[in-house]
Amino acid sequence: MSLPSVLSRLRLPVVSAPMFIASGPELVVAQCLSGVVGSFPALNARPQAELDRWLTAIDAQLAAHRQTHPDAVIGPVAVNQIVHASNTRLEADLDVCIAHRVPIIISSLRAPESSWISRVHAYGGIVLHDVINVRHAQKALEAGVDGLIAVAAGAGGHAGTLSPFALLGEIRAFFDGPLVLSGAIASGNAILAAQAAGADLAYVGTRWLATPEARISDDHRQALVDARAADVVYSDFFTGVSGNYLRASIVAAGLDPDHLPKADKSKLNTLTKTADADPASGAKAWRDIWGAGQGVGQIDAVIPAAQVADRLEREYLAARARLLGGAA
Ligand SMILES: Cc1cc2nc3c(=O)[nH]c(=O)nc-3n(C[C@H](O)[C@H](O)[C@H](O)COP(=O)(O)O)c2cc1C
Repeated sequence: MSLPSVLSRLRLPVVSAPMFIASGPELVVAQCLSGVVGSFPALNARPQAELDRWLTAIDAQLAAHRQTHPDAVIGPVAVNQIVHASNTRLEADLDVCIAHRVPIIISSLRAPESSWISRVHAYGGIVLHDVINVRHAQKALEAGVDGLIAVAAGAGGHAGTLSPFALLGEIRAFFDGPLVLSGAIASGNAILAAQAAGADLAYVGTRWLATPEARISDDHRQALVDARAADVVYSDFFTGVSGNYLRASIVAAGLDPDHLPKADKSKLNTLTKTADADPASGAKAWRDIWGAGQGVGQIDAVIPAAQVADRLEREYLAARARLLGGAA
């Protein structure tokens, strides 16, 4: 099946992953101007009225660039919607995205309602849903999503446990539509590997965090430079859903990363807001406990997002030349 044009007219086959707190208009504009899909979670725009302002500002900056650089490849914007009972903004946020004709909606956690997928289709938008297993993939396809994001082991934030080869292989057995691979993709080599393994595009999150555009503290940026894959801890303690976090932030919160208690299911509301502080440590999930994927070990400096894209492209083209010679 051929890719929708919104996913095929890119400089690199990359969808930037939405990141709670960290992804704001500065990062999204830099990603889109770098020719890849730029994204942010709707919930990052707070209060809710900010969402309209963010999308207006992003659209204006992209349009201004298009006017002065008519030949530039500018990536489309994607907005992430957390589909969960605790997300009381979902309908209002969706209305704003529809009014702005946001080209790509990324749904997370629960499969979206068919009725709202139809509203996105009505203006020509597409819906990509992220899944960590085959059962969720099938449910989302039944609901009518256009494509899937397979979140494999090693991804930053909420992540799966399956090998990317296993997950892509099983999904490809019944789905030939748009498929994006997520999990520790932090180099151009890994982007090409995602395509070789059966994905159309790579979903890149953590790699964009060590940039001036990400809305995180300088301590957080430095921790990303310092960390290696082995410094990433997988736990459901912080939000009730299993995810990957930086060991250093857990230690700084006064917790023992090697002996974290099992999840308190009452914390599930922390999927849509920064957590109530942990009574023992005072730490808040996402604000103080930093999500990061295993690709963090390939980050060696804080550089602007445009340079991240340049580097990914250089590596991708070199890997393609090395493996395929002049072909492809
Ligand atoms: C700090 C952080 C915050 C995240 N927040 C969200 C979020 O709000 N919504 C979502 O769908 N995924 C979220 N993710 C997951 C990413 O969208 C994506 O699956 C992941 O970053 C890809 O793996 P990588 O970080 O190894 O590249 C987050 C990831 C990180 C690292």
